[in-house]
Amino acid sequence: MQKGCRALLPLRISSILYHFLQNVSIMKEEFEKREFVFGVAVEDYNFTDREQETRQLRMNFESGVNTILVSPRRWGKTSLVKKVARMMDTERVMVVYLDMFPCKTEYDFYNTLSAALLTQTASRKELWMENAREFVARLVPKISISPEPNSDISLSLGITPATHSPEEILNLPEQIARQKGKRIIVCIDEFQQIGEFADSITVQKRLRSVWQHQHLTNYCLFGSKKHLMTNLFGLRSKPFYQFGQMMYLSKIPISAWIGYIQSHFAWKGCHISDEIITELCTLVEQQSSYVQQLAGIVLSMLSEGQTTTSDHLKAAFSFLLDACTPLFKQQISTLTGYQLNCLRAIIAGHHSDLGERSVRDGFDLGSASNIPRLKNALLERDLIELDGREVTISDPVFARWLRECVIS
Ligand SMILES: Nc1ncnc2c1ncn2[C@@H]1O[C@H](COP(=O)(O)OP(=O)(O)O)[C@@H](O)[C@H]1O
Ligand SMILES: [Mg+2]
Repeated sequence: MQKGCRALLPLRISSILYHFLQNVSIMKEEFEKREFVFGVAVEDYNFTDREQETRQLRMNFESGVNTILVSPRRWGKTSLVKKVARMMDTERVMVVYLDMFPCKTEYDFYNTLSAALLTQTASRKELWMENAREFVARLVPKISISPEPNSDISLSLGITPATHSPEEILNLPEQIARQKGKRIIVCIDEFQQIGEFADSITVQKRLRSVWQHQHLTNYCLFGSKKHLMTNLFGLRSKPFYQFGQMMYLSKIPISAWIGYIQSHFAWKGCHISDEIITELCTLVEQQSSYVQQLAGIVLSMLSEGQTTTSDHLKAAFSFLLDACTPLFKQQISTLTGYQLNCLRAIIAGHHSDLGERSVRDGFDLGSASNIPRLKNALLERDLIELDGREVTISDPVFARWLRECVIS
């Protein structure tokens, strides 16, 4: 009996020690400094929620389903796509990411696409030119390699209609995929930009006719302007009709923000209640980027171990408004009187009846034929969003600023 006890002792001590050490490491993790991050794609402990969307997108990537991902700006599309890209088995799938936003012409896009494909499907040790020796032979590319070990290679290829036909470029991913024996997923951010190209419908037909015959390449096309994305993908008459599965990203629910924000406050020993987080999220209409920014401002106002009050939140929000004011002022400085009146009417709750006589007269919006012009001008400036007939102000903090600083 005694012998047995003695034999057990070291085991018990080691298990106590084990649990103690485990707790220490949990505590250490809890107190690690956690910043709030906004304005760039987020990952790791700065990424919260989106489990269902992650599962769905991962399934699409793995099973070769084209996806069209839509949400207003700064809700989390890029973060989600990059997260799913990191989950892929690199032995089987390569993910290539590019942003169409700076592309103004069809060939701008081809240059960006080819450069992304060549650099992102080759490791640094490999010579990417081996990927497409024949493709590159006609070019005098400019390559710049930063000394940072993990940074991207930047490449300007100088592709023109004289060097390559569109089809040659559009077939490049399939060619690389075949050579490597892997599938490729091409992710194109701000894809709605294609609508700005000269002769856009012809370009769209060209892309679609090549892309739909590819077996090893799939596409994830995403964009922030819902009305433009719906125009591209939702109309039977358009080349990209039913090209892939449409996914509309929703807002991250307040319940997910609660755990996230509280864990970020914990490293400083600070506390914030569920109620104040709910208030914070509501102030910025749960727009992911603003939630992070505002929570960061609140935390910066607290000293170690302090508990957040409503006054802290009020002060932080007014700090946020002040910080945004120069940009907002600049945004409205270029508006006509009618356009500003149109924003006033939307803020007063007229989301789908701007064309009605009483609203037009009440807010001085001009004639009925003026309304579509006003909407288009505000849409182009990204100040409003259109969902069917419903018009809303895109940026919740801008709406608040207009209400408090311009209209009142
Ligand atoms: N899943 C997420 N968890 C936490 N914050 C997020 C998440 N997704 C986005 N954000 C916040 O929103 C900001 C913008 O995200 P981003 O992915 O660039 O959006 P989008 O591509 O839709 O414009 C990020 O910097 C971050 O502050
Ligand atoms: Mg983005």
